Parts: sequence; structure tokens; C-alpha cells
Amino acid sequence: MEVIIQPTEEAAAALVARVVSRELRANPHLVLGLATGRTMEFVYRQLVRLHKEEQLDFSLCRTFNLDEYVGLFPSDPNSYRHYMDHHLFGRVNVDPRNTHLPNGLAEDLDEECRKYEGLIRRFGGIDLQLLGIGEAGHIGFNEPLSALRSRTRAKALTPTTLKQNSSFFGGEQHMPRRAITMGVGTILECRRCLLLATSHRKAAVIAQAVEGPITSMISATALQLHPRCTVVVDEAAAAKLAEGDYYRWIFANEPEWQEFR
Ligand code: F6R
Repeated sequence: MEVIIQPTEEAAAALVARVVSRELRANPHLVLGLATGRTMEFVYRQLVRLHKEEQLDFSLCRTFNLDEYVGLFPSDPNSYRHYMDHHLFGRVNVDPRNTHLPNGLAEDLDEECRKYEGLIRRFGGIDLQLLGIGEAGHIGFNEPLSALRSRTRAKALTPTTLKQNSSFFGGEQHMPRRAITMGVGTILECRRCLLLATSHRKAAVIAQAVEGPITSMISATALQLHPRCTVVVDEAAAAKLAEGDYYRWIFANEPEWQEFR
């Protein structure tokens, strides 16, 4: 794992967008894994800017989102399809046919999950997966106790997640109780993972995810097993890391990051 600490939320998101941009320019057929949530909005804003101002081209890339609520229509403003159309897909030149999210309206959810995994495999696997992190440590909707080898499946949302996301729905009582999510095992197979966390609300869980023991109670800790995972945080989210100076030293000295310093 590598940890990159940036002074602000904007700088952290801009760095993530620049990594995506570098990978996409190197491989226009990139298979890009996407996440939703408040944190990612900054990244998508930057990617839209790079598309408009620096001709970042999405026309050949293919995208797979981590998750989608069960039971919401794509037109529902709280569906992740709607979020992606609004924040990214509708603002760049990605081919809508190349954008994939699990179908939370499928009659047979198990079959839908198997199909989603099959589609990822058919396109050669995910090259770069963007991740956020929940306050209880989930990646995707892999809630506490998610098996570290889990695959795409429908999961019940925990009280912490219901609380974290309920404001979008005007209260917990209006929120779906389940979501389809890529599994921890699915995420670990992506060639590269890039996790972004910002704000003091994420400080405790980031310290556990990066420096704590690997446990299914905090699915983000499984990323310690990933051969190529970068965690990007702002100062607020880095506040509880014990080894911040060490991470800063690596970022300042590692040639790979030269153009990002
Ligand atoms: C959403 C997802 C979640 C979020 C996480 C953080 O697709 O995969 O794991 O990344 O809940 O959400 P925010 O950024 O809203 O704090």
C-alpha cells in the first residue's frame, strides 16, 4: 500500500483525477472501475474539467461501477446510475453503452450478480478501480463481516450506512435496505486500486484501514493484500495515521510520483 497525503480535499481529488488521466491516456481502452458518494464528486468534477480543457478522451474506455441500490429505477435521483449520468457520463464523451452498473431491479438478483462478474471478466478485468470508504470501513457496500473473498452479491445495508446516506433520501425510512455490490474478492482482482478519503470523519477508519490488522469487520483492510493499492487522503483524513511522516517521505522520494508532487 502507498499513502499520499495532500493538503486539501480539492488537492487530493485532483491527484486522483490526474492518475486516472495518466492511465487513460496510456491506454484509451482502459477498463475503469467507479465509485459514487460525496467524496467522488470532486474527482468527477476534475475529470470533466480535464475532458473539456485538456481533451481527456473517454470514447474508448469502459466503466464498471462498484454498486447500485436494490429497487431504484435508473431515473430515481438517488440511484447510482443517475448519480453517474449527472456527475460524469453526461458530461464527458464516454459511450453510454460502455458504462455498466449492476441492475438493482433484476428479478433474479443472484443471476444479475453472476452476469456482472461475467461481464467484467469478458472485458479482461478492471484495470483501475476508484474506491471511497464508509465511516465503518466498507469499500463498495461490503459491510462489516463481508468475506474477504466475497464476490458480487446483494447485501443488507448496516445501520451505520443507512445513517451515513439517509440525508439523500429525506430520512432512513425512505432508503432501500439492500444494494448489489462487487465483493471484496472482486475488488482485490482489479489491477490497480485507488482509494480516496477526505475529512476528519474518515480519520479513524483510515488509520484502521492502513495500519490496523486485516479483518472482515473493516473490508478496506483487505486492500493491504493488494499488490498495487494507493490511498489518497487530505490532511484531515490523515490526522490519525501513526506513520504520516514515513508516507510523506515515500511520496517525496518515489520516482513514480515525480510528476504529481
Ligand atoms: C459508493 C461506495 C461507497 C462510498 C463510501 C463513501 O459507490 O462504493 O463505498 O465510496 O460510502 O461515501 P462518501 O464519499 O459519500 O463518504
